[in-house]
Amino acid sequence: MAKSAETNPGAGSVESTLLRLYPDPAEPVALTGCYLQLGLHRFGTPQAPFVYANFLSSLDGRIALAASDGRPYLPRSLTNANDFRLFLELHCQADCLITHGSYLKELAAGRLGNILQVGLHAQGKQLPGWRSLQGLPDQPAVVIASASLDFPPPRAFLQPEQACYIATGQQARAERVAYWQDQGYPVLVAGTRREVEGGLLMDALGRLGYGRAYLIAGPGMLETMLRDGCLSRLFHTTTHQLLGGTDFRSLSPGPEYGRLGHLRLLSLHYDSSSPAGAGQCFAQFEPLK
Ligand SMILES: NC(=O)c1ccc[n+]([C@@H]2O[C@H](COP(=O)([O-])OP(=O)(O)OC[C@H]3O[C@@H](n4cnc5c(N)ncnc54)[C@H](OP(=O)(O)O)[C@@H]3O)[C@@H](O)[C@H]2O)c1
Repeated sequence: MAKSAETNPGAGSVESTLLRLYPDPAEPVALTGCYLQLGLHRFGTPQAPFVYANFLSSLDGRIALAASDGRPYLPRSLTNANDFRLFLELHCQADCLITHGSYLKELAAGRLGNILQVGLHAQGKQLPGWRSLQGLPDQPAVVIASASLDFPPPRAFLQPEQACYIATGQQARAERVAYWQDQGYPVLVAGTRREVEGGLLMDALGRLGYGRAYLIAGPGMLETMLRDGCLSRLFHTTTHQLLGGTDFRSLSPGPEYGRLGHLRLLSLHYDSSSPAGAGQCFAQFEPLK
């Protein structure tokens, strides 16, 4: 999710050229269109869903730092326009976006920008037109995963006709489930505990006709999908900077993954220009089956 969802996700051009390093032979390619041409919007079916995620890390493995009160935040030097453009190219190919309750809190408080709709950001103004040309609905559906069910209402951040579901586990508080249902949000119960389980969530979304989900949540939902064998692709940007910071968040704060965490490289692009000349690499991986 929020990798580049800060309120101003970096200024700068998206007319950069990348060097594709893998697969070889190496060759220059335009940044714009680099991930659109993957054609992910043709991947996945309700019976065989395609789930993809995208994270941005520093060389020292930070996806966010934490302030003195413990609240995580995205340092300004981490995010940049080129990375955000590719984030948006992945975003516009989804038929549903999976986020979580914490993001709704940050969004409502104005600490993160709105990434629940396609076409809201300068780096992706033409992407609604691209969706239309592909025959996709105007906007992807939104799924909010939450065990607590304690977050602000999402409707103000969505288009009026945009579908929005809340996903939780069987042991979530019944009064909170009833609260959201009363507000008109369908609640998908997809897990035997309070948390959502990846396979059950994708089954529920499949029954609703969705087959391609972009995870714009954090490491918790990444883990949920990876451990359940539901993750199809991980897009990962390494920005060439050491962030430091003693309190930080990483991509995998949970227990060891072992072999589940082994990923095969599908593509690697080098961007020498951004951020501020240090550069970054955009990698695409698939979990080993
Ligand atoms: N650099 C990047 O690419 C990147 C990407 C993502 C996030 N970040 C940043 O990293 C920091 C931490 O991210 P985060 O807040 O997203 O952390 P997180 O620990 O992944 O998410 C926490 C919340 O997600 C919900 N959740 C997670 N797994 C769930 C499951 N299986 N079932 C139901 N709900 C589940 C829970 O919501 P409830 O509390 O509502 O139950 C939980 O409190 C933030 O600063 C964020 O902005 C950076």
